[in-house]
Amino acid sequence: MTKLLFLAGSARKESCNKKLAKYGSILAKEMGADATFIDLKDYELPIFCEDFEAENGMPQNAQKLKQLFDAHDGFFISSPEYNSAYSPLLKNTIDWITRPSPEPAPHWVPFKGKVAAIAGASPGALGGMRVLVPLRMLLGNLGVHVVPNQAAIGNGFNAFNEDGALINDSQLALFGSVIKDLIDTTDKLKA
Ligand code: FNR
Repeated sequence: MTKLLFLAGSARKESCNKKLAKYGSILAKEMGADATFIDLKDYELPIFCEDFEAENGMPQNAQKLKQLFDAHDGFFISSPEYNSAYSPLLKNTIDWITRPSPEPAPHWVPFKGKVAAIAGASPGALGGMRVLVPLRMLLGNLGVHVVPNQAAIGNGFNAFNEDGALINDSQLALFGSVIKDLIDTTDKLKA
């Protein structure tokens, strides 16, 4: 079964991007995938600095995340748009994961050859759509196959019902198609 990891680039309690990633994992399960949602707040990574790394090595939680990405065939990221780019939390997490870890294998980056789908959510009308361009480029440069379909969910603070599902039919149709493309593309590349 296709294993997919779902996460958001926000640690905020009421984050609409977390809601979107969590909901994506529910849809993916309904579509037959093995989907896991993680909250980056639980990992509390320090801000990356090469001096810190030289003195302390890779934090255990960064190693855990690295292994988690390695153990999945693909992933979904929903990022807030901060001044037209991805959040520092997301970039910091990705930077830590790309660093050498103390495992016996030679330096490996668990992104290469993986499949990803991306989305953004924001309280504004455009749903933070400008984040999708730099996020797609970043992941592509790491060797990730980013599916062409993507979603920007506007009105993010009112977009979900109390069960965590998207309320608006057109947002739901678009988002569902993104998750389906993620599963289909991951299945194809695995075959
Ligand atoms: C924002 N926000 C924002 N929203 C947007 O649509 N376009 C933008 O360029 C920005 N820029 C921006 C910069 C900074 C520094 C902050 C803190 C916020 C608002 C942002 O969409 C809002 O805070 C979301 O709620 C963040 O996502 P989560 O935490 O709800 O997932």
